[in-house]
Amino acid sequence: PRSSTADVPLPSLPRVPVLGSLLHLRSSLPLHLLFTQLAGECGPLFGLHVGPHRTLVVSGVGLARDVLLHKGRDFAGRPKMVTTELLSRGGKDIAFADYSPLWKSHRRLVHSSFALFGEGSNKLQTIVLEAAESLCSELQSCRGQCVDLSPILMRAVTNVVCRLVFNSSYHPHDPELQQVMDYNDGIVQTIARGGLVDTFPWLQIFPNKDLAKLRECVCIRDKLLSKKLEEHKLTFTPGEPRDLLDALLNGQRVSAGDITDDHVLMTAAEAFGAGVETTSTTLLWTVAFLLHHPQVQKRLHAELDEHVGRDRPPALSDRPNLPFLESVLCEVMRIRPVSPILIPHVAMQDTSLGGHAVSKGTRVLVNMWAIHHDPKHWDEPDLFLPERFLDATGKKITPPSFLPFGAGPRVCVGESLARIELFLFVSSLLQQFHFSVPPGASLPDLQGRYGVVLQPLRYSVTVSPITQETGHAWFRLTLLSV
Ligand code: HEM
Repeated sequence: PRSSTADVPLPSLPRVPVLGSLLHLRSSLPLHLLFTQLAGECGPLFGLHVGPHRTLVVSGVGLARDVLLHKGRDFAGRPKMVTTELLSRGGKDIAFADYSPLWKSHRRLVHSSFALFGEGSNKLQTIVLEAAESLCSELQSCRGQCVDLSPILMRAVTNVVCRLVFNSSYHPHDPELQQVMDYNDGIVQTIARGGLVDTFPWLQIFPNKDLAKLRECVCIRDKLLSKKLEEHKLTFTPGEPRDLLDALLNGQRVSAGDITDDHVLMTAAEAFGAGVETTSTTLLWTVAFLLHHPQVQKRLHAELDEHVGRDRPPALSDRPNLPFLESVLCEVMRIRPVSPILIPHVAMQDTSLGGHAVSKGTRVLVNMWAIHHDPKHWDEPDLFLPERFLDATGKKITPPSFLPFGAGPRVCVGESLARIELFLFVSSLLQQFHFSVPPGASLPDLQGRYGVVLQPLRYSVTVSPITQETGHAWFRLTLLSV
C-alpha cells in the first residue's frame, strides 16, 4: 500500500478571497505550459483555487492513472459550468454530464452505436474513404489557387460526422454543410473565450457578447438537428440503423423512457463538438510536422508505396502493414495533444490522491502535455521522433505514458472513430500528394495556440500530386494560407 503523506501538506498556490489563486495564474504562457512550469516548482500534484473552486493539477503519469483508471469512478464527475450547461441542455450529453446510472447507460448506448459503424463494419471505412476522395479531388482541382488546408480538412471531417450522425453527404460547397461548419466554429470560438463566466456565474447579469453568440449558435445547431431528428423518426425502421440518430432512437425505444429526445439531440450535437475540431486539428499538426521533417514524409511515402501501392485506396486492413504511419500519428498526438489538459474531472465523493485527502467536489486537471513531455518517460521529449513508437523489430508499441484520449470511465468515446479517420485521411493524402513549404514561405510555427483545443497557427503548404506511373511529382499546387 502507498505510504500516507497526509502529514505532508499538499503544495498549493496562494489564494485570496473571491479570486482564489487566479492572480498566480496570470501568465503569457498557455495553461498547459504554465502548469508544467509550476509542476517543476511544486511537484506532480499541486493545488490551487480557480475562484472558489478547489482544483488539483496532476502532472505525473502514475497519479494520472490513479485519477483516470484506478480511482476512475471517484474522479468521474464533471464541473457544472455556464457554457457547458448551455451547450448540453444541462448535461444531457456525455462529456459534460456528471457520472450517474443514466449517464452510464447513455454512454454505453453511444459506444455501441459508434461500434455499429466502427472497426467491425465497413460502413465507417466507406464513409471516411469517400470524404478522403472528395478531399483529394478538391486539392487536385484547386491547382494554382491560394488555399489554406485548415478549412479543407475541417470540411472533410465535418462531412464524415454528418454522414455518421444523420446520413447526409454534402458537396464541399453545400450551404447546409457550411451552416454546420459556421455554427460549430462559432461555438468553438466563444467557448474558448468564455472562461470568466464559468468561474464566476454571477457575471451573467452583465451583458456578455460571447454568451449571446454562443446561445445564437446553439439555437441554429438545435434547429438543424431537431429537423434531422424529426425526419429520422418518420423514416426509421427499428433494428436497421442507417446512422447514429437511428441507433440512438433504437436505444431510446428500449430505455424505459430514460433517454429523452434531448439526450439524443445533445449526443448528435456532441459528435460535432467533440469530434470535428479535435480530428481536423490533429490532421493539421500532422502536415505541419511533415513539413518540418521531410525525411519522415519520404519514409511514409516509401511505406505506402511498398504495402499499398497506387492502384487502390488504402484500407483499414493495411494498418498492420503500415507501422511507421501509425507511429507518426501517435508521435503527433504525443508531442501536440489537442486536448492537453483533458476535460476537467471532479471528485464524486471524498477520496484521496497520492496519499492526500481529496474532498468531494474538488476539480482535477490532468496535464497530459506534461506527461507526454516528461523526460523521465520520454528521451528528448521535445523532438519529433516517430520511431519511439516502434520496437527494435519495427513493430508498433504503445508506451504507458501515452494517453492522448484519456483513459478509464471518461476515456474519449470517439477514440476508435478518430483513429480510423486519422489513418484513412493521412494514408489517402500521402498516397496522392507530397507536401512541402511554398518557396519563400517559412516553416509552420509549432508552438500553437490553445483555445478549446491546441491548434497550429495557420500555415501555407505546396501540395504536389504524385503520378501513378513514376511516383514523382508532375505539377505543383501552391496552397497559401489566408
Ligand atoms: C472526451 C481526445 C475525437 C467524442 C475526450 C477527452 C480527450 C479526447 C482527451 C477527455 C478525456 C477525459 O476527460 O478524461 C480526443 C482526440 C480526438 C478525439 C485527441 C481526435 C484526434 C473524438 C471524436 C468523438 C469524440 C471523433 C466523437 C465523434 C468524445 C466525447 C468525450 C470525449 C463524447 C467525452 C467522454 C466523457 O466525458 O465520458 N476526447 N477526442 N472525440 N471525446 Fe474525444
